[in-house]
Amino acid sequence: MTSAALESFLAELERLRDAAAASLAAAVDAAAVEQARIEFVGARSGRLKAVQKMLGGIAAADKPEAGKRFNDVKAAIAELFAAAQDRTAAAADAPGAVIDVTLPGVTVPLGHLHPVTQTIRRVQEIMAGLGFESVDGPEVEDPWHNFEALAISPEHPARDPLDNFYLAVARAADPLLLRSQTSTVQIRVMESRRPPLRIVSLGRVYRPDTADATHYPMFHQVEGLLVEPGTTMAHLKSVLRLFASSFLRGDVRVRFRPSFFPFTEPSVEVDMEWGGRWVEMGGAGMVDPAVLEAVGYDPAAVSGFAFGLGVERIAARRHGVDDIRDFYRNDVRFLRQF
Ligand code: PHE
Repeated sequence: MTSAALESFLAELERLRDAAAASLAAAVDAAAVEQARIEFVGARSGRLKAVQKMLGGIAAADKPEAGKRFNDVKAAIAELFAAAQDRTAAAADAPGAVIDVTLPGVTVPLGHLHPVTQTIRRVQEIMAGLGFESVDGPEVEDPWHNFEALAISPEHPARDPLDNFYLAVARAADPLLLRSQTSTVQIRVMESRRPPLRIVSLGRVYRPDTADATHYPMFHQVEGLLVEPGTTMAHLKSVLRLFASSFLRGDVRVRFRPSFFPFTEPSVEVDMEWGGRWVEMGGAGMVDPAVLEAVGYDPAAVSGFAFGLGVERIAARRHGVDDIRDFYRNDVRFLRQF
């Protein structure tokens, strides 16, 4: 026969457990759960604490039973709390759970293309207008496409390991390198197609240069190639002038200075006049007959011209940027201006 004290203690425990369960079931957020926690299991004046004090008034014989039931209820309430905490946390994370659809939306700012990408697209557009198809080539190249087919002999200083990024994974007999010029694409296209050809290729090239206002170890070139019967330097100059006038927006004059490239003959440096100043933009020339032969064309039947310009250089000219490193600093205050 249980004593009256034990009886009322157990009834009180029961009530407490039911009240805690009801209160937690009604809690919709973390704040409500916390309020219930203070009410029921608060260290100082929680209701569980008050019931625990009733244990003192229970006969020694009933103590083990009362203690056990107390611990059971205490554990049950702890479990209810954990469940309520999980539930309210999940609800806070759940999409749509606490979204006030009457609030104004958050604008997601849209970025824009990088100025170098914008320049590449613009050049492709202008050259397309002149009938030049845009093509791509690989950035990891073999010596045939980067040098040999372009008549750059094994002794040529341009092949020096100090002037190129040779890949460590390649075997010495069959080295690979990051292309140092987009002229590689001239060879790749001529090897796979027959004239007439009008192509333009824009992409990254790599040279171990120390970065300064006009150099960067990775930069972009635009390569142009036209191979048709009867092509002359006059066609080359006209195309470059039409391109420059379109891109720089004005009647831009183009100047040729005698130069040398192993794969063009004659070869020239290309300068463009901009704001009363002549600026070197790249190199050009008539495709050397030895190159036409290397790709299986007949130099007696076709001739061609090729040019290579620095994309960062023409972009810098166009926008008045005086340090090409700015294109790669990723400072949004600079990039936002384009
Ligand atoms: N490939 C040359 C360079 O990178 C430029 C060039 C291209 C010159 C085409 C002539 C013809 O310097």
